[in-house]
Amino acid sequence: MTDGSPQIDTSVPHSARVWNYWLGGKDNYPVDRAAGDQFREIFPEIVDAARASRGFLTRVVRFLAGEAGIRQFLDVGTGLPTVDNTHEVAQRVAPDSRIVYVDNDPLVLTHARALLTSTPQGATDYVDADLREPDQILAAAARTLDFGQPVALMLLGIVGHMGDYDQARSIVRRLLDAVPSGSYLALNDGTNVVNRAVVEQAQELYNQSGAIPYHPRSPEQIAGFFEGLELLEPGVVSCPRWRPDPQPGGGLPPEVDMFGGLGRKP
Ligand SMILES: C[S@@+](CC[C@H](N)C(=O)[O-])C[C@H]1O[C@@H](n2cnc3c(N)ncnc32)[C@H](O)[C@@H]1O
Repeated sequence: MTDGSPQIDTSVPHSARVWNYWLGGKDNYPVDRAAGDQFREIFPEIVDAARASRGFLTRVVRFLAGEAGIRQFLDVGTGLPTVDNTHEVAQRVAPDSRIVYVDNDPLVLTHARALLTSTPQGATDYVDADLREPDQILAAAARTLDFGQPVALMLLGIVGHMGDYDQARSIVRRLLDAVPSGSYLALNDGTNVVNRAVVEQAQELYNQSGAIPYHPRSPEQIAGFFEGLELLEPGVVSCPRWRPDPQPGGGLPPEVDMFGGLGRKP
């Protein structure tokens, strides 16, 4: 921080801004577009994967706020505001939903106002914090969420930023320990099983760009985050195949290298 406003570093790419670029947003800088273009030249399907991830968010939140009756959401690694942010999807179904957003990117913080447009019956809050400090996240989220009631923990496209799998699992576990039975974990991340060679090549270059590295994982490793939970059907699958909306002509949509699932805490 310098003058009280968050310091935006435009000398290296940032995950939230590159993601925003792939999603067609305007909240990014030349350095992000260069890294995004380099990645996309090698692996053009990254754009489909980013869109598929947002589609997954919409269908998961619609299910949680609807059929599952969840009214509290903790969305860590929110990203820059886009269409259909978690609170918009949840509050369309259940206007009294309460949502806490968490990210550690300074640009996301400056745009957080767009996430604070709650219905009068519900609430939204934004917390500037790091996933590596789960206790800080839980303390700040408790201003808005009642941890005596079920909470949907959402970790979409974020745990791949933690290179150490065991550390990532223990952080997810710590967050899940703080929520009661009947809570949910929604998690997705990049994989390298659909287009292995090109994903690895594109990711290696991205990780050399000065951005915080990202580590695609196998679907089995992603499933490991749900250990101890009841994994809902259809399990951990490529995101477009998680309870897809009816397809024109029927059948399942093609797989992309972004897998995820939804689990319920027993
Ligand atoms: C790929 S984007 C995903 C955004 C959104 N969840 C989605 O699925 O569209 C990853 C987000 O995680 C955030 N992030 C990465 N590491 C983080 C950390 N250690 N703590 C908090 N946020 C982090 C980034 O700033 C970025 O906004």
